[in-house]
Amino acid sequence: MPVITEIADLKRIYKRRVPKMFYDYAETGSWTEQTFRENTSDFSKIRLRQRIARDMTGRSTASKMIGQDVAMPVALAPVGLTGMQAADGEIKAARAAERFGVPFTLSTMSICSIEDVAEHTQKPFWFQVYTLNDDDFMKRLFARAKDAKCSALVITVDLQMLGQRHKDLKNGLSAPPKLTPKSIANMMTKVPWGLEMLGTKRRFFGNIVGHIDGIDDPASLSSWTGQAFDQSLDWARIKELRSWWDGPVILKGILDEDDAKEAVNVGADAIVVSNHGGRQLDGALSSIRMLPRIMDAVGDKIEVHLDSGIRSGQDVLKALALGAKGTMIGRAFVYGLGARGQQGVTEALEVIRKELDTSMGLCGERNVADLGRHNLLIPKGFHDAFE
Ligand code: GLV
Repeated sequence: MPVITEIADLKRIYKRRVPKMFYDYAETGSWTEQTFRENTSDFSKIRLRQRIARDMTGRSTASKMIGQDVAMPVALAPVGLTGMQAADGEIKAARAAERFGVPFTLSTMSICSIEDVAEHTQKPFWFQVYTLNDDDFMKRLFARAKDAKCSALVITVDLQMLGQRHKDLKNGLSAPPKLTPKSIANMMTKVPWGLEMLGTKRRFFGNIVGHIDGIDDPASLSSWTGQAFDQSLDWARIKELRSWWDGPVILKGILDEDDAKEAVNVGADAIVVSNHGGRQLDGALSSIRMLPRIMDAVGDKIEVHLDSGIRSGQDVLKALALGAKGTMIGRAFVYGLGARGQQGVTEALEVIRKELDTSMGLCGERNVADLGRHNLLIPKGFHDAFE
């Protein structure tokens, strides 16, 4: 077993192990992938301020996200088709997260259903919904999440329609994978993955198949999003959806200060500054570049989280130092899951915690709550290079 010292180690193993169709689904952005690339490259433009001779003992990465205790402020983001990256993938990732002490968010587009994940875990998880045009189905989803004791609802607000990802169209992405000469040839090189998949019954969109009628091809992400997603979404509708859930609501997919102010008005408990991992509007700026303006606009009124581009504990540190109270990782845990199942997710979380903890100490800080702009060296024009 190779020694895992960074997220890139897990990604290499993941790429070898998982069929190309699902690797490509995770590792893609929309259109030219400019935003997808800049999400990570912009993090590396921000530098850290080294401080010495400060007491580094007794450091802690523990804090709170939406009032819930977390071992570090890093939640697992909702990722569609996680159960295609490894058999029973959502259950494995949720178990790794609960043992580690960070929130797991189940996607509506998961393979394991809400009930299935609840049955195989001890602690409450968060549930993510898209804004759909079928009220009955939405209400049933909310009720199912309540019955499963989900402790927060994450409403994705940046996906009224799907950004085009060339690879998914070319690969004919679906769950379960359609059997074509090309996909069969590729899967024949992924034997351990295939044997595990044959050993589970969970190979369909568990929250959807059998729960909704009238979708032409429930195995296809693009067909389902094209038919079921509410293109007429407005803030009044978001407010209505918020009122259907009597617990914490997190709005995920805010990238503009005016939208952040609206999120405060509709009574959200937190927002996630996000461009959906560069998978929606290509050409949008990276989340980390947009974070400071959003903090200036609403940072004292609502809890702000950030995702898109986090691949290390240093990235987490930078987001926190710019004012985020929490972060989400998607690909970073998926690499671990695809590489080594539940253990791989734990390894991904461990890598990130260690990087966060050591970097914090070398910056002269002992607690994540004490991180601030004073820990960063930010290139001139980083947040106001664009008007
Ligand atoms: C779904 O939310 C996706 O980004 O594929």
